[in-house]
Amino acid sequence: MSEYIVEMRHITKKFPGIIANDDVTLKIKKGEILAILGENGAGKSTLMSMLFGMYEPDEGEIFIRGEKVNITSPNEATKLNIGMVHQHFKLVEDYTITQNIILGIEPKKKRWGFLPYVDIKEANQKVAELSKQYGLEVNPTSIIKDITVSVQQRVEILKMLYRDAEILIFDEPTAVLTPQEIEFLLQVIKNLRDNGKTIILITHKLEEIKKIADRCAVLCRGKLVEMCEVATTSTKEMARLMVGREVTFELAKKVPKYGKEVLKVEHLTVKDKNNFEVVKDVSFSIRSGEVFAIAGVSGNGQVEIADAIAGLMPVTEGKILLNNEDITHMSIRKRTEVGIGYIPEDRQTYGLLLDFTVAENAVLKDYFKSEFCEKGILKREKFDTYGNQMIEKYDIRSGQGVKTQVRSMSGGNQQKIIIAREIERDVPLIIFVQPTRGLDIGAIEKIHEQIIAERDKGKAILLISLELEEVMNCADTIGVIYNGQIKQIADAKSLTTKQVGEYMMGVQA
Ligand SMILES: Nc1ncnc2c1ncn2[C@@H]1O[C@H](COP(=O)(O)OP(=O)(O)OP(=O)(O)O)[C@@H](O)[C@H]1O
Ligand SMILES: [Mg+2]
Repeated sequence: MSEYIVEMRHITKKFPGIIANDDVTLKIKKGEILAILGENGAGKSTLMSMLFGMYEPDEGEIFIRGEKVNITSPNEATKLNIGMVHQHFKLVEDYTITQNIILGIEPKKKRWGFLPYVDIKEANQKVAELSKQYGLEVNPTSIIKDITVSVQQRVEILKMLYRDAEILIFDEPTAVLTPQEIEFLLQVIKNLRDNGKTIILITHKLEEIKKIADRCAVLCRGKLVEMCEVATTSTKEMARLMVGREVTFELAKKVPKYGKEVLKVEHLTVKDKNNFEVVKDVSFSIRSGEVFAIAGVSGNGQVEIADAIAGLMPVTEGKILLNNEDITHMSIRKRTEVGIGYIPEDRQTYGLLLDFTVAENAVLKDYFKSEFCEKGILKREKFDTYGNQMIEKYDIRSGQGVKTQVRSMSGGNQQKIIIAREIERDVPLIIFVQPTRGLDIGAIEKIHEQIIAERDKGKAILLISLELEEVMNCADTIGVIYNGQIKQIADAKSLTTKQVGEYMMGVQA
């Protein structure tokens, strides 16, 4: 038998206006962890979706365990012991963990020899056993909508294992996790490899590749440009291969020039839908020309602060002032108009209309203004002109330019549309929540430069990020949140990364 468990030979896949994979030959060894690296839109998800039977290649052949196969559907892939955890999970919200895991392959039995039923007890037990074997702790009877994203991801992994997957594909699994959860997942992946599984890991994080991968395939605009041994390749070199230029990892910025106070948050308290206080008596202010970052471990109330300012969550107590105007109870539309730009955490739910085009999404908050609309008639050609400017300026890549439906675009390029729209609206306050999640390192560098450029134009910036490095890179002022309270506000230069990390864990100043 061949040394390779998977061989993709000369694979080409075209979508309207774009070659997503261009004559790619990729060979994967049994029992290795292979990383796939590449810019947003390079074709990583597409290539792996073909291995999982979601698309069929236009040209090329796939061999599994030395045998030529036609993987025409995910069911076919499952039969070949291939499993995939997608960039956006696909679980049924109201089902239990076990129900989700067994979906489609329920263990059916007959009571008294004729009455069919699903043996959920047996399934629960098998799930519990698998979860123990691989250190993926879950409660089989919990409902999906009640568990955290990281536990949902465990369910996706268990789902593959329940189906006896031997070849496991992970599409950006760490993008949605906190640093602690990432450590845990990487351990789980190693563990799976040590149990004989073959792993394919798509990620933008070079240090993850360094930590666990054996080899790394680099894709660039649809082509496989390099296959490197991770042990002998530096992260700098990998970055260069992928972006095609040197990446500095350092942000050049001038000393900030603060102007007047733009945002003032006074004694803000916010309750969640279970009436639980998630933000407790928080006060801070942001001046024009200042990047104020809230650092913290996920789930400590930082997103709720952003949502309360943008009007997505009601304020229980306290006040929010924008340029001295009380906006505490203003409608969302009004807030948008008076001057708040918002890049939300969940891009697909709150940031975009997936069935609309790039141009339509670019003007989503301004289409009713005279620039884009006259006497109730939309000036569509103006949408397109504007959309094209955004594509150019923010390097948004897609098959059919402004006419591309956003749903068909790569995750990172979807994010770039939101960032372009919110920055370009030219408002006094921009809130960025996890702005670079899912972006490649070249794109992250550019977004950081843009954040600083906006600051230098005199905007007030609120940055909420779980990435400590991002906070340390961009912030002028840092507020550390813990358990719904901002414990520490200080000039960024006066704090070390270690100190911020400690405050985030609740260590007292
Ligand atoms: N269903 C589709 N219809 C049309 N175009 C598509 C479709 N799926 C992907 N594409 C295009 O193919 C290209 C590759 O997309 P893909 O999702 O594979 O990129 P990626 O490397 O996974 O990027 P990211 O890091 O942003 O997730 C992109 O230009 C994308 O717009
Ligand atoms: Mg992708």
